[in-house]
Amino acid sequence: MNVIVQEEEGLFHLQSSGMSYLIQIVDGYPVHVYWGGRLQHRAAINHLLVHTWQGMGLDRLPQEYPQYGSGDFRNPAYQIELEDGTRITELKYDSYRLVKGKPVLSGLPAVYTEHEAEAETLELLLKDDYSGLQVVLRYSIFRDHNVIVRSTRLVNKGQQTLRLRRALSASIDMYGQEQLEMVYLSGAWGRESNIQRRTLPQGETRIDSKRGMSSHQFNPFAALVTPETTERVGDAYGFSLVYSGGFEAVAEVDSFGSTRLGIGVNSFDFAWQLNAGEEFQTPEAVMVYSEEGLGEMSRTYHRLYRSRLCRGKYRDQERPILVNNWEATYFDFNADKLVAIAEEGARLGIELFVLDDGWFGKRDADNSSLGDWYEDRRKLPEGLADVAKRIQGAGLQFGLWFEPEMISPDSELYRKHPDWCLHVPGRRRSEARWQLVLDYTRPEVRDYIYDSLAAIFSTVPISYVKWDMNRALTEIGSAALPPERQAETAHRYVLGLYELLERITANFPEILFESCSSGGGRFDPGMLYYMPQTWTSDNTDAVERLKIQYGTSLVYPVSSIGAHVSAVPNHQVGRITPLEFRGSVAMSGNFGYELDLTAFTEEEKDIVQRQVANYKEIRSLVQQGNLYRLKSPFEENESAWMFVSEDQMEALVYAFQVMAIPNGPQRILRLDGLKPELEYEVKSDIDEESSIYGGDQLMQLGLALRYEAKDYQSRCFRLRVRT
Ligand code: DGJ
Repeated sequence: MNVIVQEEEGLFHLQSSGMSYLIQIVDGYPVHVYWGGRLQHRAAINHLLVHTWQGMGLDRLPQEYPQYGSGDFRNPAYQIELEDGTRITELKYDSYRLVKGKPVLSGLPAVYTEHEAEAETLELLLKDDYSGLQVVLRYSIFRDHNVIVRSTRLVNKGQQTLRLRRALSASIDMYGQEQLEMVYLSGAWGRESNIQRRTLPQGETRIDSKRGMSSHQFNPFAALVTPETTERVGDAYGFSLVYSGGFEAVAEVDSFGSTRLGIGVNSFDFAWQLNAGEEFQTPEAVMVYSEEGLGEMSRTYHRLYRSRLCRGKYRDQERPILVNNWEATYFDFNADKLVAIAEEGARLGIELFVLDDGWFGKRDADNSSLGDWYEDRRKLPEGLADVAKRIQGAGLQFGLWFEPEMISPDSELYRKHPDWCLHVPGRRRSEARWQLVLDYTRPEVRDYIYDSLAAIFSTVPISYVKWDMNRALTEIGSAALPPERQAETAHRYVLGLYELLERITANFPEILFESCSSGGGRFDPGMLYYMPQTWTSDNTDAVERLKIQYGTSLVYPVSSIGAHVSAVPNHQVGRITPLEFRGSVAMSGNFGYELDLTAFTEEEKDIVQRQVANYKEIRSLVQQGNLYRLKSPFEENESAWMFVSEDQMEALVYAFQVMAIPNGPQRILRLDGLKPELEYEVKSDIDEESSIYGGDQLMQLGLALRYEAKDYQSRCFRLRVRT
């Protein structure tokens, strides 16, 4: 059983294979009792705890969905304005409902079950009789993953219009554990997913995005950990929001040392009018508990997101090795040039050619044509379908880039529909990269985009689409919304995007979609629901990528992490690294190339051919295995990670040394995730012979590492259980 209910005591015990989450109704409030390692269910546990809190006042009560205005002075989970201008509501518990499996969230991306037995869902109904507001707190607990998925539905059952000023997905009060620390991912364009770790002081620690997209700056994720927690040991509590727009994750430590963590749609610049009878569904927050440190937290997210968030034909399939022409040609190409790169790719074993930006309208630079989604016959005189067929003829699949959420002021579309962009009348329309954002709150705009893309999908043999999005939202307003709904624009934009993505991916299930937002500006679980892989960063430098990919893997599965070998000197940082090193870094993700293969020497082509053949052998292990991070690039000159097959019979280790160290220390790398009692045959990339070691030896004693006395060295080991 996943949810145990003791009705008389108002106790709800949600239990997975390794985790328990306890809620109790105290004085009508849903109180947060416990979240951590699995507890045996004992009827007596609640008596202890109820007495602790009764009569203590709301400011000390650990709650599940706190309100504001009646004595709790911490951040509330929601706030409502009534017609009379008052902002006080008081939700009290009314009833509960249990549902097998996990109900669908209409219009929003969500983690799902394939069989009812995988999860059970508890719904708590709370009511504020005065305003008619009803709130449904939904908790889905997975049987085999230490995961609780939370979301909230706010329903207006009264007569008056309610105005939501804040509606978070989840809030939790952690108490009895002083000095929690917060781990999160911060960054910028080209520097995504830096792992940050901060001790939480009294007061607020806030990460958020006000950009209308999840952002390069902060990922919609935070974890609470204890000071002792490391990669391998200790408690880690993860919070990941399945949402692609502006979000907030706020940890607030009160004067008694308890920590409230709230996560959801950003309440800054948000309001939502809820007419009588209407409801508002928040996105969901995926909460993971690990007692084996951040490593196991990540693996739990990976398993869940790979198999129960990503969908479609490619979910469980190995992803094609691609070559993309962006860094090879930028806007300067013709059909023959593209075909030449593809033909070279075919000779080297590459499987997919991706035509990036510049094939449509009159796009010779990034200052025009977004919205005009028809082929540029000046560049491709025989048309796009002809290029695609020639590339297919060479033996590669064909993929195409779009940026469907954007409009260039210099475009036919803008000249025809100048009000189709997000804007505020009388204000300037701030351009970024010479472009504006289409108003996806409007169905006619989404229909236009759907029809434009569908026309190409139906006439050109396309196997893959890169869906790009290269600027944040500004002057967030819609010509189609009345004044009282203007503050809904940003969230309605995201809902409109999801509606369109659902339509496109459902109607073109054969296409593999990859999302992108100037690299990782929208690398979030919301997008992964529609598109199982993401272009991780525009920064393709292998040294930078060590950090970016390592950080991204804190939440996201390796199958979703796009990683390409690019040319040197690197276009973002000018660094020159060996092709072998670039290959090893990119082969640790969803692998491809992004350079002009025809410009390579024969020697370089040989290396590429070997890399491609090698990746085909290790691909399932990398993309579907369990990831163990061994050495962090944020801490040292070395990085290492390994991939272990589900049955632990096979593994692959990559280790990297960035700068050479003269006469350096003896390097030992302790492995993880193996079966201690089994013997593994270990073969390194530099030794002729393989050696046999016990799993216990490899994990406790470790592997000796030798690097050449040069900068930018990588080592690879393949492990197989000796049978
Ligand atoms: C930004 C993307 O991240 C790049 O990979 C490339 O597709 C460019 N846009 C094209 O404009």
